Amino acid sequence: MSYIELINSNKSYIVGESKIDANKDVSFQIEQGELVIVLGASGAGKSTVLNLLGGMDTNDSGSIIIDGKDIAGYNNKQLCDYRRNDVGFVFQFYNLVANLSAKENVDLASEIVSDALDSTQVLIDVGLEKRINNFPAQLSGGEQQRVAIARAIAKNPKILLCDEPTGALDYNTGKQVLQLLQDMSREKHTTVVIVTHNAAIAPIADRIIRMQDGKVKDTTINKEPQSIKDIEW
Ligand SMILES: Nc1ncnc2c1ncn2[C@@H]1O[C@H](COP(=O)(O)OP(=O)(O)O)[C@@H](O)[C@H]1O
Ligand SMILES: [Mg+2]
Repeated sequence: MSYIELINSNKSYIVGESKIDANKDVSFQIEQGELVIVLGASGAGKSTVLNLLGGMDTNDSGSIIIDGKDIAGYNNKQLCDYRRNDVGFVFQFYNLVANLSAKENVDLASEIVSDALDSTQVLIDVGLEKRINNFPAQLSGGEQQRVAIARAIAKNPKILLCDEPTGALDYNTGKQVLQLLQDMSREKHTTVVIVTHNAAIAPIADRIIRMQDGKVKDTTINKEPQSIKDIEW
């Protein structure tokens, strides 16, 4: 069995009188330590997949196996523990707390788990040794995203889920953030799932899951992922 397996997962949302099928019979597998890109146009169902993997939403049917456990059968308390202990989340717009310093933002996350990494060390690891006591408004977009990544990885998560992590960043800063995420998978063997609509990023992944209209269109394994410095968009 693979580390992560989505099996025939369905999710729809009711909006007013109509039903939107956000994920239709979605199945895929991910191995531990892989860097995975979920690629698709806006509305394809990518964020829905990520929210299901992260225990932030529940599906209507199908299995969501994470490290041998089907979280689709979890109750609210189990899902809360799962989100707290096993998942790191990185969002497009960073979602930092404005009146807390970089270090305090990271501490917020590490305080809720028992095996957290040292917040100062994690900020140094993401290249922010000179920014530890700065507030978000004093940081560039790329630096804020690096704080958000530090916050996610300080929890020492099993899986790191990133929804359009470079969507708000310029080209070079986006590449630095991707490098950091690729390093997480290569050096720490964290399973990293990145959602993007940018097909140019896909060659850096070990596995590419293409989505269209709520379905998985195809999955490709990339034996020789490209280095981030060689991709362009
Ligand atoms: N909370 C929600 N309520 C209603 N509709 C939603 C919700 N989340 C997503 N959808 C709809 O589900 C579909 C897939 O959305 P999403 O997973 O966000 O796609 P993507 O991330 O690929 O842009 C879209 O049609 C979207 O409008
Ligand atoms: Mg989305």
